[in-house]
Amino acid sequence: MDALDLLEQQHRDVRDRLERLAAAPDLVGRQAELIDALRAVEAHVRAEETYLYAKYSARLSDESRIESALAEHAFIRAAARELASAHADGPLFAARLQVLSDRFARHAEDEEDWVFPKLKRSLTDEELDVIGSDLDLAFNFFKEAGWAPVRALRPLPRTAASARGNGVARSKPRATVRAKSRVRGSAARAS
Ligand SMILES: [Fe+2]
Repeated sequence: MDALDLLEQQHRDVRDRLERLAAAPDLVGRQAELIDALRAVEAHVRAEETYLYAKYSARLSDESRIESALAEHAFIRAAARELASAHADGPLFAARLQVLSDRFARHAEDEEDWVFPKLKRSLTDEELDVIGSDLDLAFNFFKEAGWAPVRALRPLPRTAASARGNGVARSKPRATVRAKSRVRGSAARAS
């Protein structure tokens, strides 16, 4: 598949996922849509960085625009992390989701208006098909591999999530882990 058609399709797909997330009527549905949307966002930008910008920046021949596109990726990731750390039923969630949606829309617009037309002029149809295959495989791999903040988003019992103020499962305090290790060590020496 042509790389540019594929990426435009991914842009539409991510925007649809973010709209579904905004419209999800309850907490359970919102958490499921959130994980799906954040994985798709990260997989998309990572696949572009790996198989488009890293390999074909010379064809774009405009370093400042490439820097700007990569900076936009960094803004998207920051907005995604902020959203992942908000309780899906809390007051910050909608505002953070809007920030991510706006950032992603701007990213898609910039690429479709400038990067893609320039690549279309500088690459052959065969090259675009090869890049499209790489991007498609990379997107699916990265989406399945997940993303660390998303892996931390395990649904918590409603009361525990409310008590913590957000939906992110936190690691155990180090003191607790060390205490458990000491207990295990003592038990091993005693046996
Ligand atoms: Fe993109």
